[in-house]
Amino acid sequence: MPSIAMLTPIECYMKRRILVVLMAVVAIGVSAQNVSVNKARFKQGDDLSWAKPEMDDASWSEIDITKRWDDQGFPQNTRSYGWYRIHVNIPKSVFQGADQRNALILHMPKADDVDECFLNGKLIGSTGRMPTNAAGYFPASNMVRNYVVDVKKDGLRLDADNVIAVRVYNRGGSGGLYNNPLTITCPKAGDGLSMSLTDTNVGQYHYDIEVNNAYLESTNGTLDVTITDRETGAKVKSLTKKLTLKRNKPVRVTVPYSMDKICQLTTTYTDAKTGKVLSESRQLKYVLTPAAPATPRFNGAPVWGVRPGSPVIYRFPVSGEKPMKFTCNDLPEGLQLSEDGVLNGKIDKPAILSFTVTAENAKGKASQKFTLKVGVDMIGQTPPMGWNSWNCWGLTVTQEKVMASTKALIDKGLVDYGYSYINIDDGWEAPERNPDGTLDANEKFPSMKGLVDWLHERGLKFGIYSAPGATTCGGYLGSLGYEKEDAEVWNKWGVDYLKYDWCSYENVRREENDWGFASCVRPYLLMQKFLRQQPRDIFYSLGPLGGTQVYLWGLYCDGNSWRTAQDINDTWHSIYDVGFRQQLGKSQYSSIGHWNDPDMLVVGKVGYGLGENTDGLRETRLTPDEQYTHITLWTLVASNMLIGCDIAQMDDFTLSLLCNNEVNAIDQDILGKQADRVLKEGGIEVWSRPLADGSIAVGIFNTGETDQKVDMKALIPTDKPAKTIRDLWRQKNLSESELNCTIPLHGCRYLKVVMSTCGKSKCDTLK
Ligand code: GAL
Repeated sequence: MPSIAMLTPIECYMKRRILVVLMAVVAIGVSAQNVSVNKARFKQGDDLSWAKPEMDDASWSEIDITKRWDDQGFPQNTRSYGWYRIHVNIPKSVFQGADQRNALILHMPKADDVDECFLNGKLIGSTGRMPTNAAGYFPASNMVRNYVVDVKKDGLRLDADNVIAVRVYNRGGSGGLYNNPLTITCPKAGDGLSMSLTDTNVGQYHYDIEVNNAYLESTNGTLDVTITDRETGAKVKSLTKKLTLKRNKPVRVTVPYSMDKICQLTTTYTDAKTGKVLSESRQLKYVLTPAAPATPRFNGAPVWGVRPGSPVIYRFPVSGEKPMKFTCNDLPEGLQLSEDGVLNGKIDKPAILSFTVTAENAKGKASQKFTLKVGVDMIGQTPPMGWNSWNCWGLTVTQEKVMASTKALIDKGLVDYGYSYINIDDGWEAPERNPDGTLDANEKFPSMKGLVDWLHERGLKFGIYSAPGATTCGGYLGSLGYEKEDAEVWNKWGVDYLKYDWCSYENVRREENDWGFASCVRPYLLMQKFLRQQPRDIFYSLGPLGGTQVYLWGLYCDGNSWRTAQDINDTWHSIYDVGFRQQLGKSQYSSIGHWNDPDMLVVGKVGYGLGENTDGLRETRLTPDEQYTHITLWTLVASNMLIGCDIAQMDDFTLSLLCNNEVNAIDQDILGKQADRVLKEGGIEVWSRPLADGSIAVGIFNTGETDQKVDMKALIPTDKPAKTIRDLWRQKNLSESELNCTIPLHGCRYLKVVMSTCGKSKCDTLK
């Protein structure tokens, strides 16, 4: 069989014509309505003029577009481009028997990892974002690419040659087009109809339902929307709209909703012309947390720990109307309390210091008896609360973004609930070390010291990230060989928290062929030594470690917390795996000052800098029920509570999830006992932990795939009679009749149970 590669390169126009005809014969199968191509001309490099149809590509190589370029002998070339030119004759017969003739769909091969597709020189589609894109690089390997060609407007030639030029960018590893041939089809009736739902809180909470018709000249149909109360089954809202859909002119219908009920929105579009039905359903956000009173309310644990001689930085988390004034009549010597509630100072000797702090505003006052524990092992009396840049910004973090989230943390009042660490993850490091071995921040952080001072002035604390290998997980410089220099620079900046990852340290172990326990512990002990030499407290958070179990020896390395699972993401699969599966049986490894860390929170707008929106973010993919479950389980297992979203864009729903003082109090409970799973039956799991006041916290989760009826009383893991059973999210005591309920799939109920103090048969048991 003749192949394109057999043609000699000098070829001029005529020869290319022959080539095209040959390709049409050899590589194109024309069936009833489809055209399929699996070969192209290929060249590595990048030149936008290669999109032009008249460009001479005869000297280019032949390539199979169903296999990546490196699988066919071309070099992988990290951060590089390759161009494909697919020559194809599209016969008029492609429209045979078709019911719409104004569009063709190019079902392209997948691309590893970003592509731009040109038809006869015109850009007709792109998936992912090239590194040159102003919105930032976004990889999109493994995504299906169906590009639509407007038969009239896109310069398509029927019964003639067309050049489909594809520019592919490969960031690393394998690259190029792969998976399937190019197939060109005619859309079937209703194919181009689509419906999208966007939840938004600009102004009032509402869903924007958009219906579009990509191919038909014009069509019409009916949109039905209903909102149903999930608890009672009652219809809360329903609307019907006749829509006329002109080609590519989406019609938007806005459906406002309120968050005071637990509701489901269902929407159906029925097309009159084609009979096609599109249907979608979403759970609506709902708020359970009651509004905080205007009077002052202390929301933090009544304890903080510090090492002798280290600076104290503690901001009292108190909600209520501002301005608010803080006072203390029995403040120990060496400490100062500012009027706006920031405790500073230094205590040189081990001590347990108790004093009473009062907060007062126009509506009233409140007091908290507070204990400052001063001692060598006193850091992290309760799990740290704050924010980390990774789950929202990934490697695109900047000083500006950190400051925007911090300002919002203060303005939206999260700081009044104890969120106080502002932690920068990977991506702050300069490309090279200074001659003296120290490492500065890169240009995205014009002044690290300035940023840290700014945080400390507000009573907030600052966290940084590094890794023990030569490079970090994101490919930046790690601390290997410079542990002392790094710890000293961090001390100068005023760092209060270090997240010390693992990643490339695996190479050191490989080089030394040392896979034992000692090689796991060594780099963490080394950094521990230099951290603890600094005259300030640096919360030491250990990263996840490949397959090894860092929780087994994190305490030995003086870690204040350690990851107990690999990286989290914003899907139910991940919450289930990281939370329910991987925290199981881990309570024995957690203790005051040494916490298990199932990773940062994924509520709000996250995306690791790679999300679909122009800022690299997206709304978390967890349903509202899944988000309640996420926070419930994380507080039960005494996890670090590090917010992972952009706080500047945080809505009231997310705020209500993160600022429920009774829920947070479980995480921060001073007994410090992580929950265990006490029951798993069908899709129901019950996790419970004892609390300092003698009561227990109980999470009842439905991890199954259907709603389930439960008798909560029967699931409470105690043989003592209950005096009160409190719903922590709703902050209300439940009556006996409210204990039978339905828990929606992936949802939960969160209870605090106070046991009766007297015998089984009498006194103060629940009625
Ligand atoms: C991962 C870590 C993430 C993030 C990332 C930075 O290993 O688990 O949380 O820190 O590295 O590159």
